[in-house]
Order: sequence, then structure tokens, then C-alpha cells
Amino acid sequence: MNLPLHSGTRPTDSPHASLPIGVFDSGIGGLSILKALRSELPQERFVYVADSGFAPYGERDEAHVQARALSITQHLLQQHRIKALVVACNTATALAIHLLRDQYPQLPIVGIEPALKPAIALSKTGVIGVMATRGTLESDKFKRLLSSLQGQARFVLQPCSGLAVAIEQFDAQQIQSACAQYIGALGAVSPFGTHHGQIDTLVLGCTHYPFAEAALRLGTGPDVNYLEGGEPVARQTRRLLEADNALNTSDIQQTVATPQETFYSTGDGQTLQSAVQLWLGLQQFVVPLAG
Ligand code: DGL
Repeated sequence: MNLPLHSGTRPTDSPHASLPIGVFDSGIGGLSILKALRSELPQERFVYVADSGFAPYGERDEAHVQARALSITQHLLQQHRIKALVVACNTATALAIHLLRDQYPQLPIVGIEPALKPAIALSKTGVIGVMATRGTLESDKFKRLLSSLQGQARFVLQPCSGLAVAIEQFDAQQIQSACAQYIGALGAVSPFGTHHGQIDTLVLGCTHYPFAEAALRLGTGPDVNYLEGGEPVARQTRRLLEADNALNTSDIQQTVATPQETFYSTGDGQTLQSAVQLWLGLQQFVVPLAG
């Protein structure tokens, strides 16, 4: 179904370094990762795809997410000759990254998973809340991660159906009520706080959720640690590019003068447009993308 266009065809000299990095998510959530990528790699160009027309990934079946991940990656390779791919979505990473790596063995691919290991290092109480999509929490990849950490902390898992959609729609009321519901459910298992037995660390295991932090904080209070994955993903992307001799080392003064990002949406481009302006402070236009 998808041709491995990248394998063996990519130049290995400096023109390769000037090619863009592809980033995708089911929607606007991956902008939280793009923000970290832009800050870690200011010389790089990025092509971002928001698959809003086929979201939410976290509430769809595995085959749907896998087909979307393969199709978007093929588009990014064919149309933009990306030199690396960042799967800026926990659900797509959990369900599809192994297929992408099989299909495109030459392409550096970075994914994101809920930050359970950093949470163990940070937590003093050893009780950690994890908010993610149902798709992520039910995936084999997540179950393997969880069992590899058995005995190191107590994890309280909370699937958050509807929260990514509310964020995607900028629906403040729905965001507040979903956050209150899910923080309430976590707190009923173990209260939030810094005392023995309380949840002192909350892992935001979906790239949309950092954009709801203010609403989440209303329920957890200010003392709880929040963990998301943007910075580690950006650092890992840098490492892979370095290892592949593909880091763009051009003069930063030149690169900041020209737009470094292109944004595509398979759904309502207006949502992505607003989010890009609001969260990244950029004015670029969103290009419609047929599914
Ligand atoms: N942002 C995605 C993630 O990190 C999922 C949101 C959705 O359900 O589409 O898992």
C-alpha cells in the first residue's frame, strides 16, 4: 500500500541537512511538541500535519490509527522529502510506530510515550497519576512499559475520553468539566498532595493535555508536578539527526528570517490556525490536506 520512498534515495551530504522534519498528531496537540522542537532546533524547518479530519485517535481502533500514520508519513516523504519524523502523539506512537519503523527503516523516527520513568525519578510519595487516551492505556506498548516499572511506584491510570476533542474545539466549558471529572476520578483513588500516599506527580500522556493545564490545576492544586514529553522528544530528535549527520548547521540569523514551518490540516484548518497563533505566536497559514 505504501512505497518505501525514502529508503536508499536520500542524499547523505549537506543538502540532506536542509530538508525539513515532519511532525504529526491527530490534531493540535502535537503543537506542544513542536514548541519544544523549535526551541531545541531553531535552525530546522518543520512540516506539521494535524489529522483533525480523522481524530480522535485515542477513541478509534488500532487499524484506523495505523492507516492514518502510514498515509501521513508517506505524504510527508513524497511531498516534502522529510529527513526525520516526529510522531507527536502518544496514541499513534503506541499503536503504529513499529509499523512506520518497519516500512521506513532509513528514516529517523522519534515517538512519544507517557513519561513514567521521569515521573518515578521526580515523585517523592511514589504515587503517580497518568492521564492518557484509552487507546494509549490499552495498547500493548504501554502495558509493557508499565510492567517493566513494576514495584518502582504506584501508578493510578485515568483514560480521558473526550478531553482531547474538547481541547481541539477550544470548548472551555467542556475542557473544565472533563478536567474536573478526570481529576476527581484520580483523586477518589488517591488524593493529590505531597504527603505519604498522595499523588504528587501527574503524567500528561496525551500531547493535547498540556493545553488544559490551567483547568487541571484547579483540581490538583499548585504543588503537584506535571510531566509532559516535549523536551525529551526534542533532545532525542537532535541526537538522531546528529547521528545521521543531518543536523542543519546553517546560520541561525538566516533561518529565522524565513518561515520555518508549514502547517497542514485534514480537518477544519481554522482550529489549527488559531492554535498556531495562540500557542506558538506564528501567523503562517494552514494548508488543507485531503485525507
Ligand atoms: N494527542 C494524541 C495523543 O497524544 C491523542 C488525541 C486523540 O485522541 O486524538 O495521544
